[in-house]
Amino acid sequence: MRFRVTPYHHNLLMDHQRLSAFYEAISSSARGVTYDLGAGSGVLSYFAAGVSEKVIAVEKDPKIAACASENLSHLENVRVVNQDALEFEFTEPADTIICEMLDTALIDEEQVPVLQRAMDFLKPDGRVIPLGILNAAEPVLMNSDNIIYDERGSDSRSAGPLRVYSRVNFKGNLDDRFRGRLKLRATGPFNGIRITTFTILQDDIICGPTPMMNPPLMIPLGSAEEPGEAEIELSYRMGGGLGSIRAEVL
Ligand SMILES: C[S@@+](CC[C@H](N)C(=O)[O-])C[C@H]1O[C@@H](n2cnc3c(N)ncnc32)[C@H](O)[C@@H]1O
Repeated sequence: MRFRVTPYHHNLLMDHQRLSAFYEAISSSARGVTYDLGAGSGVLSYFAAGVSEKVIAVEKDPKIAACASENLSHLENVRVVNQDALEFEFTEPADTIICEMLDTALIDEEQVPVLQRAMDFLKPDGRVIPLGILNAAEPVLMNSDNIIYDERGSDSRSAGPLRVYSRVNFKGNLDDRFRGRLKLRATGPFNGIRITTFTILQDDIICGPTPMMNPPLMIPLGSAEEPGEAEIELSYRMGGGLGSIRAEVL
């Protein structure tokens, strides 16, 4: 089947690692009344339509929402709504909520604010896809003085092991603020940290960064640090954008 898409959503469709992880999770867990928040081209709604009673696909960008309506028009149990999920009125309780507005550490997209609101409409035994994320950090030697995504994987050099520092459960009590002390071990000089986010699609499917999902994020520390044990105070707001990030060596 051929989907009509924008160039950005085309790249998302070409990311087979991302799609196969979502396909597996949706086909084994979605059911009943399913909401797909941030539906884009409608590909995840398309996966969900075969296993759900009905699917409501919510997308705020009018251009891609029009594409999704066309792409899914042959499916009688799917409805596309062109609206911001932060304002969308849920008309019936959800058995399943799919939300793929992921971003590294959930900082630069509205995944957390959207889910905070949507959780009020999820049935107690309802499911969320993905289930959550794990964040890990490592010391790095980086070339930039700015916070940047390491999309090419060549803009920094690791200076120590990756350590998991937080887990966000989408079905739990979602707090959009993160503040924590990261204890990292540097085996060489470093001047930044690199955050890698792993997506927990379901208990037995964990997906690392893929070409279009969660590129590692590099944060400069503003100073050159020596090898050894390091403690870094990191804070940010999920959905608050990259400008909300603060990182400081203690
Ligand atoms: C990463 S794309 C994923 C698209 C699609 N779910 C997929 O997997 O290919 C995220 C989508 O969420 C949409 N989006 C972002 N914030 C939104 C919001 N507050 N309400 C509805 N859609 C939103 C974007 O326009 C974009 O199409």
